[in-house]
Amino acid sequence: MAETEKKFRAAITATARFLPDKVVTNADIEKLVDTSDEWIRTRTGIVERRFLEEDEPTSKMAIAVGADLLRKRGLSGDDIDLIIVATITPDMVFPATACLVQHGIGANRAWAYDLSAACSGFVYAITAGAQFIETGAHRRVMVIGADKMSMLLDFTDRTTCVLFGDGAGGVILERSEDGAAGLLDFELYADGSSVDCLYVKAGGSRAPATHQTVDAREHYVRQEGATVFKFAVSKMAEVSVSLIERNGLTGTDLKLFVPHQANKRIIDAAAERMDLPKDRVVLNIDRCANTTAATIPIALSEADDDGRLQSGDLLLMTGVGGGLTWGSALFRWGH
Ligand code: ACO
Repeated sequence: MAETEKKFRAAITATARFLPDKVVTNADIEKLVDTSDEWIRTRTGIVERRFLEEDEPTSKMAIAVGADLLRKRGLSGDDIDLIIVATITPDMVFPATACLVQHGIGANRAWAYDLSAACSGFVYAITAGAQFIETGAHRRVMVIGADKMSMLLDFTDRTTCVLFGDGAGGVILERSEDGAAGLLDFELYADGSSVDCLYVKAGGSRAPATHQTVDAREHYVRQEGATVFKFAVSKMAEVSVSLIERNGLTGTDLKLFVPHQANKRIIDAAAERMDLPKDRVVLNIDRCANTTAATIPIALSEADDDGRLQSGDLLLMTGVGGGLTWGSALFRWGH
C-alpha cells in the first residue's frame, strides 16, 4: 500500500518463542550419519538443535507461543482479530494449524489461516498481517512462525538432516500509538521456476502417499545444497541492501538485523554486504539450527527479552527459502 493510503502503522507490541525441551547435539547426529561436529560447526555454525517428540505436533509449539503473547501483552484471546501461522509442517493437510491455535488460545472472534512460504514464511506473514492493521480492518493480529522440521528429516541423508530443528516464535501486531513505530517498508519475491532445488517430493496432490513413496523416502526434505547456498547468499544480501537503500539508510543505521538462520556463512556474507557491525546481527543458529518459518521470530523474541531494542530503533528482518521465496521487512521498534 502506498505510504499516503495507510491509515495506521502496524507495530510489534509483544514477542514470544517456544523451543522443545529435547536438545540434540552434533554428537547425537554423529551417531546417526557419517558426519562430524567439526564439519557441522564450520560449514553451518550449528552446534545443537531442539526436537519435539515424534507424537507432538507443530500446534503444540504455536499454541504455547500464542498463549505467551497474550500473557506478555495482558490480553485475552477475545482481543485478537486474526491469527496467521507460517508453517510448512502443519498438523494436518487441513484444517489450518492457525485454526488449532485459534481454539487453543480461546481467540473466539478471530479468523485464522496458514501461510506456506518455507523459510521466508515469517517475513511474508508479518507483512500480510500488517496490511490488516494499516487499513484499519483489524486492531490486533497475531503472527506465528512454527515448524517441526524433524518430521521432514531423512536420518540417512547427512546433507540435510544436520541442518534443521523444531521451534516456534511470534508477535502481536497493533496500531502504532505514535504513528512512527511499526512496519516502514518491505520487499517480497517468489521464483517458482526452481522448485526442484528445495522441496518435499511426495505427500501432496502431485504424489500422494503410497507404500512406494514411503519406501523411496520421498516424504523428506531434499535440496541441492550448493545451488540453494549460492541463491541464499546473493538474495539475502540483495533484498536487504535494496530495502535499506530505498529508505535512504545504510547498514550502520540499523540497530538489529534479524536474518533467517540457515547457515552462518550466508548471514555473514549478507552482513558484510550491508557493512553491518557484527554486534548488530542476531544469531542463534548455534543453539536452534534452521527452524524454517520460526527462525526469525525466535531470534527476535530473544533479542527483545535481552533488551537489545529500544523505542525508535530500526530493525531489518530478511528471509530466503523454498519456493524459492525471499523478502525483507523494515520496522521501527516501539508501540
Ligand atoms: N557431514 C560431513 N560431510 C558432509 C555433510 C555432513 N553433514 N554434508 C555434506 N558433506 C560433504 C559432501 O558430501 C561433500 O563431500 P565431497 O566433496 O566428497 O562430495 C562435502 O561435504 C562438501 O559438500 P558441499 O555441499 O559442497 O558443502 P557446503 O560447504 O556447500 O555446505 C550446506 C553444505 C551446509 C548444505 C550448504 O550448501 C548450505 O547451507 N546450503 C543452503 C541451505 C539452505 O539455506 N537451505 C534453505 C533453507 S531450507 C527451507 O527453505 C525449508
